[in-house]
Amino acid sequence: MSEKTDTSRNQLGDIIATRMSRRAAVKGLLAGGTAAAASGIVPLRVFSQAALAAAGDPSTLTFKQAEHVIKDDHHVAPGYNTQVLIRWGDKVLGDAPEWSASTQSAEAQEKQFGYNNDFVAYLPLPAGSDNSEHGLLCVNHEYTDAELMFPGLTHKTKVAELTRDQVDIEMAAHGHTVIEIKKTGGNWEVVDNSPYARRISTRSTVMELSGPAAGHDRLKTSYDATGTRVIGTVNNCAGGVTPWGTVLFAEENFHGYFGGDPAKTAEEENYRSYGIKGKSGYAWSRYHDRFDVEKEPNEPNRFGWMVEYDPYDPTSTPIKRTALGRFKHEAATCVTLQDGRVVVYTGDDERFEHLYKFVSNRRFDPNNREANRDLLDDGTLFVAKFEDSGILRWVPLVWGAGDLTPENGFKSQADVLIETRKAAKLVGATEMDRPEDVEPNLVNGRVYMMLTNNTKRKPEQIDGPNPRAQNAYGHILEMIPPGARGAEGGKTAQHDALVFKWEIVMLCGDPKNPEHGAKYHPQTAQYGSWLAAPDNCTFDNKGRLWISTDQGSSQRKNGIPDGMYACDLDGPGRGLTKFFYAVPRDAEMCGPCFTPDNTTLFVAVQHPGESSDSTFDTPSTRFPDFADGTPPRPSVVAITKVDGGSLGEA
Ligand code: FEO
Ligand code: CA
Ligand code: CA
Ligand code: CA
Repeated sequence: MSEKTDTSRNQLGDIIATRMSRRAAVKGLLAGGTAAAASGIVPLRVFSQAALAAAGDPSTLTFKQAEHVIKDDHHVAPGYNTQVLIRWGDKVLGDAPEWSASTQSAEAQEKQFGYNNDFVAYLPLPAGSDNSEHGLLCVNHEYTDAELMFPGLTHKTKVAELTRDQVDIEMAAHGHTVIEIKKTGGNWEVVDNSPYARRISTRSTVMELSGPAAGHDRLKTSYDATGTRVIGTVNNCAGGVTPWGTVLFAEENFHGYFGGDPAKTAEEENYRSYGIKGKSGYAWSRYHDRFDVEKEPNEPNRFGWMVEYDPYDPTSTPIKRTALGRFKHEAATCVTLQDGRVVVYTGDDERFEHLYKFVSNRRFDPNNREANRDLLDDGTLFVAKFEDSGILRWVPLVWGAGDLTPENGFKSQADVLIETRKAAKLVGATEMDRPEDVEPNLVNGRVYMMLTNNTKRKPEQIDGPNPRAQNAYGHILEMIPPGARGAEGGKTAQHDALVFKWEIVMLCGDPKNPEHGAKYHPQTAQYGSWLAAPDNCTFDNKGRLWISTDQGSSQRKNGIPDGMYACDLDGPGRGLTKFFYAVPRDAEMCGPCFTPDNTTLFVAVQHPGESSDSTFDTPSTRFPDFADGTPPRPSVVAITKVDGGSLGEA
């Protein structure tokens, strides 16, 4: 294998996989493992700082690693504190009742913290400041686990057994929360009776549709003859913050909520391409006609969008921005170009789906917040086409161009946006291994995509950016816009360019197990910790990558916890992953978000205790309360350094 040895910033970047055969990758791994054994260097799970220092650990991340094991409780690196800030059911609105598992109601839930927290954004107060001790915390509630919320249900029986009241509680537990938080004496607390406090839910929050598809006939329903108003949002996964301080949150797996036979609608092909197949994992369609496609055939076209709202105005109407396309959006992360136009990166999290970016036509005005209100309605959506040579081309999805014509079913740009997946496939977009988070790094100017896994990729389907068949462990891709080189890369990167370069940062899995075909920094097996299923990510203010993971049911098989890993992206420690924080058993880790000064990291512990054999009555963990009769509760956790310093250091 022809791995470059020079590169100041990249010992791994050249492993663009088609340039190395799978066999070569495995050989390289074996070589690394043998060297580690022969040198007698500290094995993976022993973290003696003295030994690491003596052996020359090249990472700038000097924290002592957390134990790389699964426990009932969460745990963090030594020298750090964890604080459970808010749990499912905790008070959000001033008049919310106390939560208890036995007195739940939809009305109460709409005033309390929702279920399965995912995306977390910290927005300083006052708006526009960089205050790291007082701000708004904006949190998504992606979905519900009814068998952990209510007694007597199991994973298998819940769809048949859920009552209408329970379904309404589930709908109220979806959506989004805004709380005001303050740090005093080193501890964070939720401000009581805050004027900013807000719950957004599937049950009752009215939203607008805007942009090129708004008002289209395919979006009209019996509730909304205008095609511009929708009740609620579902499966809000990750998101982003705009330069003007509004929040974007993604509608991801919207298909799962709809029952009824799509063959009895005019949208069968469309719906099937998004996974609506007539069998729902939820009981909602039994009690609410709008979730039954036979009764309300256009309703699914009103989901799968990116939602924007203003957290500083609790009365603001959330708006579904159709110009950003309709698919299973994971996130939407923004960067401002030097000329003021805005680029939003967003991926479609499903096997063999695509990566997108939106480039606005208008410029962000930092002096007039209101002028930016509809900036995301007007611009061009592009989809990524990777070439094995290391080139990435952005192809515009514009009605009338190429194959996006009436002959292929597209009568307008609205059709292109409603069926974004079909349009992307027609222009030859690259089919990726489940694009989860994609985020521009504002320090080095490059863009990072977490590809979580794809066990369905066959050997004949591997390509440069998706180099492993049966990819069970996932990988991380780096995309390099023109100008994104050197120390000033974050300022000079041209995110609107039509051609980028790309490299692979790491192929996840256990570097000591040749069958995984993993590839990290050559010293990961000595100094680092391996990971699987990268999902969300963020950067600290030194531009280092923090990766959160979601192995799902593979957590038990892999035997390693989900949680937070970090690595350098530049210099000799590039790709050397260290383990920082573990979520409890059967949870996934979501929403990592730093305060501007890097002294607090907020994380979302999602679905603790979720597995096929875990229920309200006998959960696999009772995190975080550990009280008899209380089920596990998804929670947002604040992580700080004991000495109050910047995260990542010893
Ligand atoms: Fe909601 Fe793609 O994770
Ligand atoms: Ca999730
Ligand atoms: Ca995710
Ligand atoms: Ca995931």
